[in-house]
Amino acid sequence: MSTRRSVAFIGSECYPFVKTGGLGDVMYALPRALTKQNCDVKVILPRYKSIPWKWQEKMVYRGEFRMDLCADGRTFYVGIMEYVCDGVVYDFIDNEDFFGYGNPYTNLVDDIPRFCFFAKAALAALNYLDWIPDIIHCHDWQTALVPVYLRTLFAHTPVGNAKTMLTIHNLRFQGIYNIPTIKYWTNLPDYVFNKDALTQDWVNANLLKGGLYYCDMITTVSHTYAGEIQTPFFGEGLDAHLRYHSGKLRGIVNGIDCDLWNSATDNKLAAPYDIGNVLTEKKENKRALQEQLGLVQDDHMFVIGLISRLTDQKGLDLVNAIMPSIIDGNTQFVVLGTGDERYEGAFRYYEDTNKGIVCSNIMYDEGRAHRIYAGADALLVPSLFEPCGLTQLIAMRYGTIPIVRETGGLKDTVVPYNQYTNWGYGFTFDRYDSGLLLDAVNRAKTLYFTNRWRWDEMVQRDMDVDVSWENSAEQYRGLYMELKP
Ligand code: ADP
Ligand code: GLC
Repeated sequence: MSTRRSVAFIGSECYPFVKTGGLGDVMYALPRALTKQNCDVKVILPRYKSIPWKWQEKMVYRGEFRMDLCADGRTFYVGIMEYVCDGVVYDFIDNEDFFGYGNPYTNLVDDIPRFCFFAKAALAALNYLDWIPDIIHCHDWQTALVPVYLRTLFAHTPVGNAKTMLTIHNLRFQGIYNIPTIKYWTNLPDYVFNKDALTQDWVNANLLKGGLYYCDMITTVSHTYAGEIQTPFFGEGLDAHLRYHSGKLRGIVNGIDCDLWNSATDNKLAAPYDIGNVLTEKKENKRALQEQLGLVQDDHMFVIGLISRLTDQKGLDLVNAIMPSIIDGNTQFVVLGTGDERYEGAFRYYEDTNKGIVCSNIMYDEGRAHRIYAGADALLVPSLFEPCGLTQLIAMRYGTIPIVRETGGLKDTVVPYNQYTNWGYGFTFDRYDSGLLLDAVNRAKTLYFTNRWRWDEMVQRDMDVDVSWENSAEQYRGLYMELKP
């Protein structure tokens, strides 16, 4: 039996309690995969008021204490509520003032204090529970203060023995705010506010930058993104900092939870299917989707799905630019997402002017996402940058062909289709250019309409790709062992 390792995951969202994007999926799936790799995992989360009651009522009170936080000595209530599921322990940090609102994020004015509080409370809770892990694994800027607190205010407490890993899921968000406010809320010693650690410029501190400095290992969610973020274009101002710390930077691609995303047992689908009957049953799901969304019911339509936060990251300006060319009489387009008003508005406009052909679902809806993954023929992910991306993995698992830009994890997971060797998982393009996106969509359509046999082979090939967490969880375990042999 291999050596057992204990890991505390600290993050700001986790499916099924609270999820706004892929971070929520990873916080759910990776701990479960790690328990199968002989790891003992505790996940620490804020107890947001927005967590549905059906989960709140299952939580059990584990204790409470008061914690000092601010420079003026103000102390705060920290409650610990616990829920255990499938071998993973979830501890929710309770404090009505900080977590009584939001969905779960609001704006930096409120988010900076609440995540200063959360990072410190998570460490204090580990000491309080007397559960000292080998590894503390933090995620994104919201928990980047954990390694900073650990090596300063907590250095001589029991939890100070743990090693820390900080995973970058999205470098665009860093938690940048003026130094006096951060000094006030954290009461961290002045020396951490130096230009190599927390200080961003004369005015601002950068929580992620500080975390990257103080953590023992940095990871990000694909091999390609690990390289990209060390360049000025993708580095979001931290490329030099990341190059300096590249010795402790690794890229490990995400997986998906194959029990949660299993087309054969998915009770949200009109007709669950597996690789053996996908070719007939996918048609059933397409028909049901068309009916549910008020689209023209026609088996012969090429249905393109897009499931995404509607932000600049996701390449939606390219999609907008080619919408009129995509709609050609043989194609339907289904969007599911919320985000920037201008994209929401644009997709609403295309629905209004193409009733029965375009359907814009400006909402967050898990069930609908499942039905689109199952009912669409292709899924569009033309991102400007994409640290990993999960939607292309889910699509493949559901036999839906991804059309993606070759960046970050999209590049690492979608092998471009080659018509000469008849191999590949999807259609790709490289430069960020709407003409190239249109070309990729047209290549997909051409194969679909003129060589369905080969298309169908790709559908089955994609369903067979191993997109599970097993391999990547093993790599994380390897890094934990490196940190704590
Ligand atoms: P990101 O984390 O950048 O948003 P990912 O591709 O890693 O992108 O993860 C997105 C996750 O959120 C996927 O599980 C996707 O299905 C889900 N998702 C995104 N938008 C919606 C929506 N409007 N409704 C339901 N699920 C959504
Ligand atoms: C981020 C990234 C996305 C990644 C997800 C989970 O939200 O935008 O590419 O898949 O985190 O790691």
